[in-house]
Amino acid sequence: VERDLCLELARDDHLVVALGAGALLDADTRARLTRQHLVVCLIARPATLQRRLQSGVTRPLLAGRDGRAKLARLLTDRATVYGAFAEQVPTDGRTPAQVVTDVLATLTSRHLRVRSMRQHIVLGYGVGVTALDLGGPTVVVTDENVARCQATRIPADVPRIVVPAGEASKTFDQLARLSREFVAAGLDRRGTVIAIGGGVITDLAGLAAATFMRGVRWVAVPTSLLAMVDASIGGKTGIDLPEGKNLVGAFHPAALVVIDPLVLGTLPAEEWTSGMAEVVKHAVIGVPRLFRALERGRRFGAVEDFAAIIEVKRAIVDRDPFERGEREVLNLGHTIGHGVEAASGYAVRHGEAVAIGLVGEARLAERTGLARGGLAARIGRVLEAQGLPTRYSGMSAQEVRAAMGADKKKRGTRLRFVLPAAIGRVTIGVEVPEPTLMRVLAELRKPS
Ligand SMILES: NC(=O)c1ccc[n+]([C@@H]2O[C@H](COP(=O)([O-])OP(=O)(O)OC[C@H]3O[C@@H](n4cnc5c(N)ncnc54)[C@H](O)[C@@H]3O)[C@@H](O)[C@H]2O)c1
Ligand SMILES: [Zn+2]
Repeated sequence: VERDLCLELARDDHLVVALGAGALLDADTRARLTRQHLVVCLIARPATLQRRLQSGVTRPLLAGRDGRAKLARLLTDRATVYGAFAEQVPTDGRTPAQVVTDVLATLTSRHLRVRSMRQHIVLGYGVGVTALDLGGPTVVVTDENVARCQATRIPADVPRIVVPAGEASKTFDQLARLSREFVAAGLDRRGTVIAIGGGVITDLAGLAAATFMRGVRWVAVPTSLLAMVDASIGGKTGIDLPEGKNLVGAFHPAALVVIDPLVLGTLPAEEWTSGMAEVVKHAVIGVPRLFRALERGRRFGAVEDFAAIIEVKRAIVDRDPFERGEREVLNLGHTIGHGVEAASGYAVRHGEAVAIGLVGEARLAERTGLARGGLAARIGRVLEAQGLPTRYSGMSAQEVRAAMGADKKKRGTRLRFVLPAAIGRVTIGVEVPEPTLMRVLAELRKPS
């Protein structure tokens, strides 16, 4: 009965439902509710719960003797289920009014500004573009998966261009198609392009907006984890060439970035995992507190977490908008990562390659004396807990090295690494002796 009622209520919006602690133990109910709705988990320490239970209310599951032991067992049994909800609000020692304030805080949207890019970021549950009054003509660009999974997010009364999903759409062909469809849709200089999708869509539509009539405004509505924490922020747009990724592009920031973590409810699990590599990268660069929380096994995904991770990129981009120096720190994990990705012929996903790169570069930091021993192992454990690989297979260290480019025979093009000195501290422009690099690349290879 409880499940049926939950499923029925899940069809509604703008509704607050107070669930009993057992309702979310049912996998169907859980999947259904978390796919489209925000679940806030109110938590309390066992001692607090014990005290509350003395108020005389009978709890069938805790009735009889040994109430304390039964409670402890229930909490252990349910720890994984409850721990999976990103928004956790502690209630120990707090009045109901204080708890309500904390719950409301999770619902309040946050605003961040990348000043150097004149980019405004709105982050919060339920934020969207449907009610946005942009003035002037608008066009939506999205991909086929997002158009299907997130149909309600896409304004119905706006012309829409649907691109095939995936990296293969970051081409001149698609750029030409978008430009021509912009004309057909009556887009002009006062108009706005609304990109709703992952990094492929924000990169492609952003570049189309950059070049259409020498530049029109655009709004990014990132729908993948990677696009939320990385691709939609900081102004880079681009497409690929057969010769390499992102070789054609422009700095043309989305004027507005609208981030609603609830959209991630329909993101395939492997895309979430891939995006987590960039989350861990940002945590290593600048959010030690979050890194330690991930080490303790806490799940990423509260609105606070998004704000903290996005703030890392925001601050760096503002100090070095056009990558003259410091912005390079965002390439952490990417020098070796790109090598692995390219040497695999892009069979290894970007996030997986970055995970391997993060561990490899932390090892380089240890070997060159920049970081203390144990850093690479710590980073590796956090990545593995997210389901990411930390070693590659199916290619040789020499192949990875070759794909990293800039070998020592070519003068003036020596590889310079971004290396972690500690969690929260990163150094740029580090040269690593070739034998050290080769040894680390060999260690990263899974023995077959
Ligand atoms: N401009 C930048 O600064 C920057 C930074 C990092 C990455 N990028 C680019 O981003 C791209 C990768 O982005 P990505 O990983 O988001 O890839 P993507 O856009 O291909 O999205 C991944 C997959 O998830 C699907 N998807 C996205 N949101 C969904 C949702 N809410 N529900 C269901 N399915 C959904 C997409 O259709 C796609 O199949 C690369 O091309 C990379 O070069 C750009
Ligand atoms: Zn990346």
